[in-house]
Order: sequence, then structure tokens, then C-alpha cells
Amino acid sequence: MLGKTDLEATTCWDFPTQSEGDPDAGDPSFNGVTPARCVSNLVRRYTRPDELVVDPMAGSGTIGAVARSLGRRAVSFDLTPRYRSVFRADAREWPLRANAAALAVVDSPYSDNIVYGSDSRCLGRISCREPRFYEQMARVSAEARRVLRPGGVLAWIIADEYRGGAYTPVGFRLLSVLSHDFEVRDTVVLVRHHDRSASPLWEHRARRFNFFLRGFKFLFILRKPVGESGG
Ligand SMILES: C[S@@+](CC[C@H](N)C(=O)[O-])C[C@H]1O[C@@H](n2cnc3c(N)ncnc32)[C@H](O)[C@@H]1O
Repeated sequence: MLGKTDLEATTCWDFPTQSEGDPDAGDPSFNGVTPARCVSNLVRRYTRPDELVVDPMAGSGTIGAVARSLGRRAVSFDLTPRYRSVFRADAREWPLRANAAALAVVDSPYSDNIVYGSDSRCLGRISCREPRFYEQMARVSAEARRVLRPGGVLAWIIADEYRGGAYTPVGFRLLSVLSHDFEVRDTVVLVRHHDRSASPLWEHRARRFNFFLRGFKFLFILRKPVGESGG
């Protein structure tokens, strides 16, 4: 696990592999898996031992696994649970009481480009070009605000989309939604590796047709205002 000096000091986080620092957390082959070391940085900075970490879109369970390995309690759920440590629930209705958690880490779909399951409630079925995408993310944000304790931190990972010749600034649009519920503390750039588009063919296309491949995701760090309970 990380030593104190291994915590990231800048707003550019670049982890060459998903499992670096915590080989047993998550499934590197899961589409959209969260880098383990990104999670350990968040858990170490924003929680103390025994505090609760929530992952409402848990996928292969990286966030809960890292949190538990650091001596925190963790709740991991997903609309389509596929792993033992993850139970079924909708990220728009957290089965948790108000003011219970110190940290929530959300690594959400960022458009309808990845099929996560057959459940029609999957947020990965909504295009980021539709206002509905941001309306549904606002419901997730409202639940995070309810369940986090005052001063608790919401960390949200999201990417922009470039598809069919159109760029959608998903990150900035989402940040505008989240800032209704939370104080914005910082924005981190999470360097992307091993995406399917990271190939000589796609690099050739990007140069030839004058567009850019997505090189990073946003990691937004927000805080529930102190002096406000979740209700
Ligand atoms: C980017 S993946 C999360 C990756 C995960 N952090 C990991 O490391 O494996 C997004 C997840 O959101 C889930 N999801 C989509 N809509 C949901 C909803 N309404 N409620 C809960 N989970 C949802 C998908 O099933 C998918 O597993």
C-alpha cells in the first residue's frame, strides 16, 4: 500500500496500470474500471480508519476493495452486480441513512458508448448529448449530498465524448450540475491508458481527420457544505 510520500501532489494523476499499488482491487478487464491508486489517494486524503466509503456504481468493485484494504468500511452497489462484494441497488436511491458516509466515489458512465447490462434503468443507456443524462446524474448527486456527512467528500470521475464528428464537454456540464449540491474543491486530470482507441489506427485517423483522442478523464473533488445535514 502507499506510503505517505506516495500520495499524489499535483492535479495530474498518471497510473500506468489499473492495479498499480493494489493488485487485488477490481478487475482490470472490466470496461471502464477505476485505477486502484486513484482510489487509495482519495481514501487516504479524505477519510479516517473505520469511516464509511460509498461506491454507488461499483462495477468490478475497485473502490470498495481499496477502501477495505485501508481499514475503512465500504458499501458497494450497482444496478448490474457481477461480483460478490457488490449488491444490487440504483445509484439514484442509495439504501443508506443520511449523513452516514465520509467519502463517495462515483465512476459513472459518461454516455451510451458502453453496454453495462440489460436493465433499462442503466445510466449507460443515455447519450451525454441529451439533457436527460444530466438530469439523472443530478439525482445521483442529490443522494450523495443526503448520505455524506457535512464536510464529506464526493469524488466523481467522468470523460468527455467525441463521437461522429461532435464533441460534447460532458465534464464541464456535469460539474455545473454537481456544483448546485456541493462546493467544488478541485479538478484532477486522470490520464487514460489502454483504451481501445489507443492504437496506431486510431492515432492515424485522429491526425488525418483532425480530431483528438481522449487522453484523460476528469476527477472532480467536491465537498458537502459544513453546517448542512442531509435531510
Ligand atoms: C465505469 S463503470 C464503474 C467501474 C468501477 N468503478 C470499477 O472499478 O470496476 C460504471 C458502472 O455504473 C453502473 N450503473 C449504470 N447505471 C446505474 C444505476 N442507475 N445505478 C447503479 N449503477 C449503475 C454500471 O452497471 C457500471 O458497472
